[in-house]
Amino acid sequence: MTSTKPTTPEKVYSVVPRVAKDAHIKGITQYKKEYQRSIEDPEGFWGEKAREALSWFHDFDVAHYGGFDNGDVAWFLGGKLNASVNCIDRHIVTRGDKTAILWESDEPGVHRRITYKDLLTETCKIANAMLTQGVRKGDTVAIYMPMIPELIMTMLACTRIGAIHSIVFAGFSADALRDRIIDAQSKWVFTADEGKRGGRTLPLKKTVDEAIHGVHVVKNVFVFKRTNNPKVPFHPKIDLDMTKIMPLMRPYCPAEWMDSEDYMFILYTSGSTGKPKGVAHTTGGYLTYAATTCKYTFDLQEDDVYACVADCGWITGHSYIVYGPLCNGATTVMFESTPMYPDCGRYWDLVQRYGITKFYTAPTAIRALMAHGKEFVKKYNRSTLKVLGTVGEPINPEAWKWYYEVVGEKKCMIVDTYWQTETGGHIGVGLPGAAPMKAGSCGLPFFGIDFAILDDQGKELEGVTEGRLCIKSPWPGLARTVYGDHHRYLSVYMAPHPGYYFTGDGARRDADGYYWITGRIDDVLSTSGHRIGTAEVESALVAHNVVTEAAVVGFPHRVKGEGICCYITLIHGVDGTNAVMKELTQQVRSIIGAFATPDIIVFVPSLPKTRSGKIMRRILRKIAHGEEDSIGDVSTLADPDVVPAIIANFKHVL
Ligand code: WTA
Repeated sequence: MTSTKPTTPEKVYSVVPRVAKDAHIKGITQYKKEYQRSIEDPEGFWGEKAREALSWFHDFDVAHYGGFDNGDVAWFLGGKLNASVNCIDRHIVTRGDKTAILWESDEPGVHRRITYKDLLTETCKIANAMLTQGVRKGDTVAIYMPMIPELIMTMLACTRIGAIHSIVFAGFSADALRDRIIDAQSKWVFTADEGKRGGRTLPLKKTVDEAIHGVHVVKNVFVFKRTNNPKVPFHPKIDLDMTKIMPLMRPYCPAEWMDSEDYMFILYTSGSTGKPKGVAHTTGGYLTYAATTCKYTFDLQEDDVYACVADCGWITGHSYIVYGPLCNGATTVMFESTPMYPDCGRYWDLVQRYGITKFYTAPTAIRALMAHGKEFVKKYNRSTLKVLGTVGEPINPEAWKWYYEVVGEKKCMIVDTYWQTETGGHIGVGLPGAAPMKAGSCGLPFFGIDFAILDDQGKELEGVTEGRLCIKSPWPGLARTVYGDHHRYLSVYMAPHPGYYFTGDGARRDADGYYWITGRIDDVLSTSGHRIGTAEVESALVAHNVVTEAAVVGFPHRVKGEGICCYITLIHGVDGTNAVMKELTQQVRSIIGAFATPDIIVFVPSLPKTRSGKIMRRILRKIAHGEEDSIGDVSTLADPDVVPAIIANFKHVL
């Protein structure tokens, strides 16, 4: 758990007048008024927003039903709509020739501009290709693609015909992809021959081939081409070459009428125990929430050039590269590369070339760039920028200040957006035209979000306090279930504190009602903004035949936010050599993916356990945090002598 505790009193940064001038929500009074209405009359408030943000084939009858206790939350009952129509068709008359997607390739300056009309044509062709292969409403479709426009088009093609997409981040390994394909029973997989990132080539098709080997559920693999490498294997019985199929398809495809509560997509995310869960979002509620948060958080205006430089494989990409901006008819930048390629000026070069007005990234990227100095930033004209967003983990005040002062030159608003895969969109954020900023705080609750801070016994705490962050009443963007396992949904989110949704995060509320996220309370890590369960890394490690036991904890990492520290016991007769260490690192990379690579591996004689055999993670965390002086009482351990041995081995590997 990282701490963002500031040295009090916290400095308050005023709202920047050039941003507030034409903002949708101007000033704190307007925010408070709207917020109060959203809490007192959620049905009225969200009913209005749903009709304002989206176009419905058939209006809904009831705005909201159900609650946390039964886990039967539903929004906009009886309403019929289609996500793809809301992202494309409804803009055709007024914005047909406007750029919908501005794609920047891995190579600087190589780009594609896709208008809303183009987007309709290409999406429809993919949708028709899917229909031809038998994909129907309610089917799940796995997507394992690089950051190319065809990925967005495929998402929109799925939602157009009512197929439920399940995107697997292209950094996941074949094993991880296979698990997700099987769990969601996806009969179709979309991929590309290869991907490009930071000058490197990613063998995506090869990984898909490995993943589906022996998996009978998969009928077909739709293959786009990114690199055109002729060596990439093609299996005519299963593979479908989209470059050949696309020209044969009709460029219009009628859209399916989806119920507001029909599933729209599944996205796997990590929890503290077990396998990743397929969080399921529904059409009407998710889309209303993604569109509304995107509009207000970034204060979207018609002429904005909006860039969220995340990956579509994570929820940030779903809500804030694709569905949020496109529902609002915005121009959304899709970025294939990394902040460091070919050098640390890449983001700002992008800002200058495209005149980006709203920019959204993660603290880990900011910290990495900060280490390379101001020159890479100053070289480029950033005068178009107005709002700078951050997401994924608490931002440390130094990084916040660098973002605000160096990148934004004190002329931009920083929006620190706190949310989760499960919440569908931002739940804690200071709106740019309204809320003064504090470095490291995610600000105030978004409309309709009624935060509560509870103590360990579940008692709600008032005023200035710190504890377990929960939400008191449902909002439209809440995930409705864990796909195929509603029991797990109830036990993870609703059961810990009956009557509340439990976020899994700790938070502090200050005297101004601002929230400061202190990090996960459970065994979930945020490393470089990627969410990983310690249990997943542990099970990858123990799958290796030299490992007896593994315990994984997070530790503060200068760039990644949290690093991954693994304590491992080996079977008798095997030494913890560098070669073993390398093998175990490789093991985690191949079972999960490169982004889960351990930062520290410590071989220990045994793990600290209570007499009943429970691993005392608290001790392992203290050691990894370099706080061995405050380990405290170890007398309950079965073997207290193991602690000094672990400390010695830990220091040795540093
Ligand atoms: C953390 C990412 C502090 C938090 C959108 C949460 C944050 C988890 C912030 C969800 C923020 C996300 N400040 N912590 N602005 N944003 N988190 O599902 O611990 O990948 O529970 O969604 O990231 O991660 P997820």
